[in-house]
Amino acid sequence: MRTLIHGGTIVADGRSRSGDVLIAGETIAAVGKAVAVPAAVDRVMDATGCVVFPGGIDPHVHLGLETPQGTCGDDFASGSAAALAGGTTTLIDFVTPRRGASLLDALAARKDAARKSLCDYGLHMSVTAWSDRVLPELEACCRHEGIGSVKAYLAYKETIGLEDREFLTLLDAARALKFLTLVHAEAGDMVAYLQKQLLAAGKTAAAFHPLSRPPEVEGDAVARALLMARLAGVPLYVVHVSTRQGLDAVAAARQAGQAAIAETCPQYLVLDESLYAAGGDAGAAAVMSPPLRSGEHREALWQALASGLAQTVASDHCPFDLEDKRRHAGDDFTRIANGIGGIEYRLGLLYTFGVRTGRITLERFVDLVATRPAKLFGLYPRKGAIRAGSDADLVVWDPGRKWTVRAAGQWQRCDHTPYEGLELQGAPRFVLSRGAAVFAAGRLDAAAGRGRYLDRSPLRGNDGRCG
Ligand code: URP
Ligand code: ZN
Repeated sequence: MRTLIHGGTIVADGRSRSGDVLIAGETIAAVGKAVAVPAAVDRVMDATGCVVFPGGIDPHVHLGLETPQGTCGDDFASGSAAALAGGTTTLIDFVTPRRGASLLDALAARKDAARKSLCDYGLHMSVTAWSDRVLPELEACCRHEGIGSVKAYLAYKETIGLEDREFLTLLDAARALKFLTLVHAEAGDMVAYLQKQLLAAGKTAAAFHPLSRPPEVEGDAVARALLMARLAGVPLYVVHVSTRQGLDAVAAARQAGQAAIAETCPQYLVLDESLYAAGGDAGAAAVMSPPLRSGEHREALWQALASGLAQTVASDHCPFDLEDKRRHAGDDFTRIANGIGGIEYRLGLLYTFGVRTGRITLERFVDLVATRPAKLFGLYPRKGAIRAGSDADLVVWDPGRKWTVRAAGQWQRCDHTPYEGLELQGAPRFVLSRGAAVFAAGRLDAAAGRGRYLDRSPLRGNDGRCG
């Protein structure tokens, strides 16, 4: 099957040019002007007036995540459908072994759950406690199981968070096994202390959630995590940076020559902390960690995206229905299910509020949502590029298409969205995943299970992880 994407502006690898993309089977065969005459191919897709860029890569999603507050709404089938509809053709989810459990068993279970994905996917391992079995299991993950990145939590100390000495041991393992370490950087002991104080003072409502996780608590954890990474001599990827303080810590580390990578998310760029004060469902629905912030932090994040200080935008997709959000909204904010859905809106939000406002260029947008995640997580140039030999994961993006976010019409499985009613401009006309037109004219054409697990093993000569 030969497909020609004809007449668009191709944006990839930091530059824009008009031209065509020729696809043969699952991969890109040629890129440029006059690469094929339309009559000589099986299918022509009209990209006139559109931007053609590599399929989005969302490096931070939670599908079917089980928490004490319930299981998040999307599984790998519905979540990957929402990803494709929004222009994301690859996602990376997490394995989160229970403390003391085998990493390899947890990975096998997660691979099973992920098999129904409609799009290609990878998995980050998480280390939730250190023991003698962790290092050999991590080595097996990195050598034989396609794992190239491992996450640690400095928050959630009671369940999955690491103590500093454990985190340092993990960083040593990263140096030996060449995986990239991700860190959820909020200072867990301070959060627990503040939560206890607030609850004891009768401040139990969702409105108090942000007070238990102030910006300084993120800034402190990012700085300490980066200091530990410097001592261990390894790069560090900080997930969902939400504050000026967090960014300042990343900037200081980078100025000192450290490989420090900051990820942020659309919710921290677009939504405001005033949702908590509004109370009711809006407040509970907006409970996530870290919490939403004020305009000062949003402005710092936009500047960081424009300057290159922040290098990726991920969704941290983790939706819960209102029932799960409401259950403890009045009596104990620490027990409200954490997270929101956003895998479907990541590109539309960043395009509308970033590119259309002139805060970031189109080339930077593509780097943030596709190319940089591919490079960081061992997928480039198979993904994140438009070149001969790359997977034909492509978005034909209509920059003029106006639409309104409505939970009622969303692909992601959740009964609400904090973006309800937002007017966006820019949406996929077509989405291709390994050459297949999986989304066109608002309709999805992709079977559950067609997604492939992506081997990102750093110990198998996979060297695409340049920062
Ligand atoms: O509140 C959030 N972000 N929920 C998802 C899990 C996590 O901590 O990333
Ligand atoms: Zn997350």
